[in-house]
Amino acid sequence: MADSPRSFLFLLGSSRTGGNTETLARAAAEHLEPEAEQRWLRLAELDLPPFTDRRHVGDGATPVAAGAERTVQDATLAATDLVIASPLYWYSVSGSVKNYLDHWSGWLRVPGLDFRARMGGRRLWGVTVQGDEEPDVAAPLAGTLRLSAEYMGMEWRGVLLGSGSRPGQVLRDERALAAAKTFFDPAADTPGIRY
Ligand SMILES: Cc1cc2nc3c(=O)[nH]c(=O)nc-3n(C[C@H](O)[C@H](O)[C@H](O)COP(=O)(O)O)c2cc1C
Repeated sequence: MADSPRSFLFLLGSSRTGGNTETLARAAAEHLEPEAEQRWLRLAELDLPPFTDRRHVGDGATPVAAGAERTVQDATLAATDLVIASPLYWYSVSGSVKNYLDHWSGWLRVPGLDFRARMGGRRLWGVTVQGDEEPDVAAPLAGTLRLSAEYMGMEWRGVLLGSGSRPGQVLRDERALAAAKTFFDPAADTPGIRY
């Protein structure tokens, strides 16, 4: 995949608008190069249907996507850089993000889509905000994203982690805001939790 210009898809996984995770993701996106494309999708507003496992039904193929599923599938395949901006919910990604990732299992089985081959080499990034101040509690979220990237042959770029509870509180997290300035720098090479 060509490195330039980069095309970012930000998938917002909070169940509320104006939350801390979106605030931190936007703070990091402010430092993207001007030629980088940005698309922002709020999963809670997309009405992506719940994933259904059809692997062992008939020939196991997944039907071609339509509606909201097609919107997010097309956006995913159009991005060189996919940013999962999920709040930390029960130490992992939010339900809407998990449902989106579950759909990948179906997309792997859409005849002719070549989902895994096309995702290979693209970059996966995570942004999360948690209520806790202890960074280690986000390890399951980071592990979910890192292992998913590896499974898909994607380049794992790490998690930008902030702390906050009430909307706006992440703006008091000076370490997170400092890390946001260089998070999307292609030359930075510190995958894992960045904090
Ligand atoms: C359903 C739910 C589960 C949560 N689980 C955790 C958790 O496991 N660890 C933690 O530190 N904070 C947890 N929190 C706090 C959120 O991560 C925190 O409030 C964050 O700012 C929410 O992100 P948002 O502002 O982008 O919506 C949880 C909040 C909710 C609503």
